[in-house]
Amino acid sequence: MHTSRLHANAAPPAAPVRGAIHPAWVRVTHWLNALAAIIMMLSGWRIYDASPIFPGFVFPPSLTLGGWLGGALQWHFAAMWLLVFNGLVYLTLNLAGGRFWHKFLPLSPRAIVSDLAAALTGKLSHADLRQYNAVQKFAYLFVICDLIVLVLSGLAIWKSVQFPLLRELMGGYDTARIVHFTAMSLMAAFIVVHVVMVALVPRSLLTMLRGRQGESRS
Ligand code: HEM
Repeated sequence: MHTSRLHANAAPPAAPVRGAIHPAWVRVTHWLNALAAIIMMLSGWRIYDASPIFPGFVFPPSLTLGGWLGGALQWHFAAMWLLVFNGLVYLTLNLAGGRFWHKFLPLSPRAIVSDLAAALTGKLSHADLRQYNAVQKFAYLFVICDLIVLVLSGLAIWKSVQFPLLRELMGGYDTARIVHFTAMSLMAAFIVVHVVMVALVPRSLLTMLRGRQGESRS
């Protein structure tokens, strides 16, 4: 059985948790990433509205950022630098320090299905916030890959002439726009589920803010 799939009643007794659950660089890059991703999404919706891909579908202007096309582009490009450089710092530190492998791997379809079933029946333990369950591992790996696709498809749209190979890999300019929109939609779905999950286990928010959840597991 996957180690994180423990019935809440069968969880080991509470024991003090020492040291930071999330190091400072994870917390700083996480919140900068969240800020940049949300600015990019809301300004992207305004940019989309100036030239909709899907006839008849536009985002309500009140949900968008930037006021008009020019303003939205400025927000989008400003947040783009933050997203890309912050993302590179996060990925480099994660990979170079080996955190990536022990936080997100191993991962198997069986473990994801098992932990998902446990979560849906209220049997997934959250006693040890140091260890992500398989559904979390999958969701975080998924959104990291999705952000990479978002950046690359955005680059193919922005510098379509300068990066012909990238443009062709994306299926051409028009298809790159659809790839970009689809990746944005998947990220938006991730954010909704992610924030609901955090609200269901509020101690996890403390760990991402302070590094630790308190004096002991509770
Ligand atoms: C805006 C509100 C957000 C809140 C309140 C939030 C909260 C959190 C919390 C509490 C965790 C730690 C979960 C745990 O330890 O069990 C976490 C991890 C994570 N979040 Fe968010 N998050 C937000 C936005 C985002 C966005 C926009 C993204 C990406 C698009 C994102 C991607 C991630 C990833 C990849 C992790 C795992 C980080 C790691 O351990 O390396 N989050 N988030």
